[in-house]
Amino acid sequence: PARYAVVGRPIAHSLSPRIHAAFARETGIALTYTAIEAAPEEFEAVLAAFVAEGGRGLNVTLPHKERAFALCAEATPRARAAGAANTLTWTGGGWHGDNTDGAGLVRDLTERRRHDLRGRRCLLLGAGGAARGVAPLLLDAGVSELIVVNRTAERADALCLALGEPARARARYWDDLDALGDFGMIVNATSLGREQSRVGLPFGLVAPGHCLAVDLSYGEAAVPFLAWARAAGCADAVDGLGMLVEQAAESFQRWHGVRPDTGPVYAALRARAD
Ligand code: ATR
Repeated sequence: PARYAVVGRPIAHSLSPRIHAAFARETGIALTYTAIEAAPEEFEAVLAAFVAEGGRGLNVTLPHKERAFALCAEATPRARAAGAANTLTWTGGGWHGDNTDGAGLVRDLTERRRHDLRGRRCLLLGAGGAARGVAPLLLDAGVSELIVVNRTAERADALCLALGEPARARARYWDDLDALGDFGMIVNATSLGREQSRVGLPFGLVAPGHCLAVDLSYGEAAVPFLAWARAAGCADAVDGLGMLVEQAAESFQRWHGVRPDTGPVYAALRARAD
């Protein structure tokens, strides 16, 4: 069977092998999908070895998404907009890069959870690889404004510059969070929840009655932000598990030409997570 894998560090707890195996069973496509641990300095060598052993496609996760994009010979517009790739396909002569994270997020929110993102003022916390992956797709989904706030202000400026929509996407300072008004959508793309058990954000960020809060991580890492969101009165507070499954389906479709039904594997992972 054709070989696929996810590469990252740490990788032991990645759910991607399980998700792709479920998709393969469901669609009747024969494949193997493994997890490969690689330190940053090993990344290129790991990719070369994978290709030499007949590998066809890779998912890329922390901390390699920007590096993965940099070594692609060609890439989709959404990967170029993100400056990061999570899906690599070997073309025979080089790597093709895509970024399915943002599409996965929007699909989870709009298709599975039936939220309409159009017209929402959106606050994006963070400007790292995760934020870069979702920002262009949030604009495509029709948010009225995208305010990017990052601890390191320069990264927020750089992200907004790359988005190239100065009328809708603007950077603001973390210290000014109190003065930004309220939002219909707040996306946490920081790794705050992995380091701190509490997030000290102003409750005034939440538009009463209809604010959607999303943490791009899942499991323990999502708990502090989602607890804050509920305490602040958000109408819905969503973790990144659905996004994970949907970005995998987007990758699967690119590689195999079939879009799997994500419902069963999502339900199984959700049952295990809750
Ligand atoms: P990822 O690919 O997950 O985005 P990253 O590029 O390391 O990883 O980015 C992590 C994000 O979390 C960044 O936006 C980071 O802010 P800085 O750019 O200032 O480093 C943010 N972050 C991490 N710890 C944080 C904390 N304690 N408070 C606020 N932001 C934090």
